[in-house]
Amino acid sequence: MTHRILILGGTTEARQLAGKLVARADLSVTLSLAGRTESPVAQGVPVRTGGFGGVQGLAAYLKEAGTDLLIDATHPYAARISANAAQAARRAGVPIMALRRPGWEPVEGDRWTLVDTVADAVQALGAASRRTFLALGRQEVGAFEAALQHSYLIRSVDPVEPRPAVPDATYLLARGPFREADERALLVEHGIDVIVSKNSGGEATYGKIAAARALGIEVIMVRRPALPDVPSAETVEALADMVDHFLEPVAERGV
Ligand SMILES: NC(=O)c1ccc[n+]([C@@H]2O[C@H](COP(=O)([O-])OP(=O)(O)OC[C@H]3O[C@@H](n4cnc5c(N)ncnc54)[C@H](OP(=O)(O)O)[C@@H]3O)[C@@H](O)[C@H]2O)c1
Repeated sequence: MTHRILILGGTTEARQLAGKLVARADLSVTLSLAGRTESPVAQGVPVRTGGFGGVQGLAAYLKEAGTDLLIDATHPYAARISANAAQAARRAGVPIMALRRPGWEPVEGDRWTLVDTVADAVQALGAASRRTFLALGRQEVGAFEAALQHSYLIRSVDPVEPRPAVPDATYLLARGPFREADERALLVEHGIDVIVSKNSGGEATYGKIAAARALGIEVIMVRRPALPDVPSAETVEALADMVDHFLEPVAERGV
């Protein structure tokens, strides 16, 4: 019997998980992407792209596709799709599990200022002009039009369009992973004195946080949003184990 699995993706881990599960003959795996990135990294698994149309749309999709298991492996800041996934799974009667990468914890030497939203991060920069590195999604940099006194180094995977109306901005296109040594060189080269970051967790983008610590640079860290309470694992391996366990017929588990 083939089990149909829908993975909501947009993260490195989602791609890794899909790659791991697609190799199995008993599974039919589809990876769903929002379609925000212009050239997503080649996946090697069947991909569907674009929003579902809210909870109702996703619930309908799950039923039509005959999905047996929904896996939410979206980014920790993609709160809407995670909330939709939990509700749609309930509505369609489809089991759900989530891959939730743990956030970074501050360590000795870190100078973090914690804020709840990007708008709060703009305020936290303060009145005096600062050289600011924005390591945020391209949708979020528009908020900094509210603080024209700062200069900005803006890094994104795809070009930021439209560009925010800020007088002093330098744009950098790059896709992680980023090494600490390279991040340190970048911060020094641009004379950065503050970084605005999400608490993404994982290794790929931690380089800037470690580099900031080494250089004594402040990090304005946007806290993670609240996410629905569903069964979850922190790593690709642990989630793959949960999938195995889920697929074992009840009798074999000796229940
Ligand atoms: N937010 C971040 O910092 C961040 C960083 C890296 C990667 N990403 C990835 O980028 C995607 C979009 O992030 P976001 O912050 O815009 O999310 P969001 O605010 O939670 O979602 C907005 C809408 O985008 C659609 N959507 C999101 N993820 C989808 C997926 N995997 N497949 C199909 N539709 C999806 C849904 O549209 P409908 O309601 O029409 O279904 C959802 O309601 C996510 O897949 C996320 O994993 C986000």
